Amino acid sequence: MTGSLNWVPPEVDPTVPSPARVYDYWLGGGHNFAADRELAEKILSIMPGIRDATRLNRAFLRRAALFMVASGVRQFLDIGSGIPTVGNLHEIVQAVEPECRVVYVDRDPVAVAHSRLLLENNERTDVLQADLRDVQGILDSPEVQSQIDFDQPVGLMMLLLLHFVPDSWDPVGILAGYRERLAPGSYLALSHVAGDSGVSRLDEAVEAYKSSQNLPHIRDYDGVVRFFEGFELVEPGLVGCALWRPEGAGDVTDNPEINALPYAGVGRKP
Ligand SMILES: C[S@@+](CC[C@H](N)C(=O)[O-])C[C@H]1O[C@@H](n2cnc3c(N)ncnc32)[C@H](O)[C@@H]1O
Repeated sequence: MTGSLNWVPPEVDPTVPSPARVYDYWLGGGHNFAADRELAEKILSIMPGIRDATRLNRAFLRRAALFMVASGVRQFLDIGSGIPTVGNLHEIVQAVEPECRVVYVDRDPVAVAHSRLLLENNERTDVLQADLRDVQGILDSPEVQSQIDFDQPVGLMMLLLLHFVPDSWDPVGILAGYRERLAPGSYLALSHVAGDSGVSRLDEAVEAYKSSQNLPHIRDYDGVVRFFEGFELVEPGLVGCALWRPEGAGDVTDNPEINALPYAGVGRKP
């Protein structure tokens, strides 16, 4: 009966778990199906801390976005933005600087349909369904062109996205395509599941994920830090998500391995 729900486009197969909807479930959202919940629960049974790690990642999104606003950024491009949840990027930045503009990009039809519903009355935001590999198509799209002035700094967000990108896709080359179009003073915020956090049973969790539409490509520090090529990492560099300028209790857990499960960093284009 998914066709009767206005956030479920007809092309969606609810029997195949999607990373966007599995993540939505871990965050406590309601835009997921039985197959998503089954996979999410299976991974939770292997690695119970994953739910806390997703919350840490959202808290990092907030801190990184506010850091960029404080640094003068007023326009944001969020790629692999996911299904809207509590504390969305446009809400975070427009609460402190209402003129901020945000374009969300995701290839998942549910993420895009739900974003469209949420953003209907917000003139300073837009959403585009696209694959991050389509760099020129995204940057030249009417959605991006109408919201983003590439002569001004942009906050490029790629949170928990690039571990869905195999090296065979040349993620460093893809990032270079975005970076070339960004004005000096632009920022890249990135998070990525760490292979060297020390968390136990990561291999089993990755194995379980194989039934989703994407197989995660887990990388260690060296594999992630190269994504900042052409950017200067701001302090404290690429670190466990909870260690990136934590401000309060919700930014950190009492489990050091979960604190380190997503790598997180922010780089500035000189
Ligand atoms: C784990 S969610 C992260 C959502 C959000 N960035 C966050 O950190 O809260 C990953 C998102 O990346 C999207 N995604 C994965 N591969 C993609 C690709 N090749 N192009 C665009 N989006 C992609 C998925 O659909 C999903 O919504």
